[in-house]
Amino acid sequence: MNLHSHRKDEHVMIAEKLYRQKSTNGLERIRLIPANLPEISLDEISLSTTLAGKKLEAPFFINAITGGSQTTDALNESLARVANKTGVAMAVGSQSVAVKNADYAKGFEKLRRLNPNGIMLANLGANHPFENAERACSMIDADIIEIHLNAAQELVMPEGDAEFYWLENLKRLNEKLQVPLLVKEVGTGMTPQTLKLLAENGFSYVDLAGAGGTNFAAIENERRKNKETLAFMQELGLTTAESLLGAQKHRNELGRIKLTASGGIRDAQDIVKCLVLGAENVGISGMFLHVLLKDGEDGLAAKIEDLKTGIRALMALLGCRKISELKDVQRILDLELKNTVDQL
Ligand code: FNR
Repeated sequence: MNLHSHRKDEHVMIAEKLYRQKSTNGLERIRLIPANLPEISLDEISLSTTLAGKKLEAPFFINAITGGSQTTDALNESLARVANKTGVAMAVGSQSVAVKNADYAKGFEKLRRLNPNGIMLANLGANHPFENAERACSMIDADIIEIHLNAAQELVMPEGDAEFYWLENLKRLNEKLQVPLLVKEVGTGMTPQTLKLLAENGFSYVDLAGAGGTNFAAIENERRKNKETLAFMQELGLTTAESLLGAQKHRNELGRIKLTASGGIRDAQDIVKCLVLGAENVGISGMFLHVLLKDGEDGLAAKIEDLKTGIRALMALLGCRKISELKDVQRILDLELKNTVDQL
């Protein structure tokens, strides 16, 4: 087993260990107000939306987690079977190791057979050349590719990168790839300034991946010998709620960017709040990993159906028939969140 694929096992183990740690995505600082006369029936409600221009049957998906080692390939196979059964889209974790060494690609290559008709997302870091990105897509016959921005993670990672010149490469990938490109953080959130820069450079799809859920600075810090030096890095970032509200405030500067929300999503209410705040879909990693490890594939499939039921019920209570109507729902922010948004 090489260093890279050993790291994948550690990420899963540490993410699960830290899952219980109290962290907040900020969404609890927002209240949605039910309609007293919803004038709606449950069967009129459609949960469908889009992700990077592709149709989704439900407004959430399995976001990037893993792959590239024996244990994590098995987890990906489970996720692919659950995605196939429930009809939700699925992203694989970084294929960095697999584009460099064909032995590590085999696990990824199996996934399309397990989920023949579902939406699948490839995943790579922002420093990879076009050939690697193309290879990552063909490996899983991807519909979309996620390119992750993970500066905080690399800086804390004991064997991490030290150079972060990404924008020109990202632009090349966006122009040349056949599939839509989704630019994604990994749990630090994005400022309106970043979104504006991405919009100006021609990007259309962004996953804000806010703070408040899986925290990669914390995960990498667990892998360091000296845990004090960079411990503060795990406190940085905008929460999911702050990232979304910042984007909404600057909406007219962001061109045609469509947003995916992720970071600390735990239940149907979190999902609906993200959609109310302007996301067109929501990604979930840590919680789905936790349920899969605890309750297996059937447990995860049941959880996904539960989320659909919860979203439908909340949409009824808010009087919304379509996901796109949610963005007009009234929301009330607590003072601390309002104060932060005023400064964005
Ligand atoms: C991740 N995430 C991630 N993201 C990415 O783009 N490439 C990757 O390889 C990984 N690897 C990974 C491993 C594990 C174990 C977890 C839990 C997560 C990040 C993930 O997609 C997401 O952006 C963040 O985890 C925030 O969402 P959650 O986990 O709070 O729902």
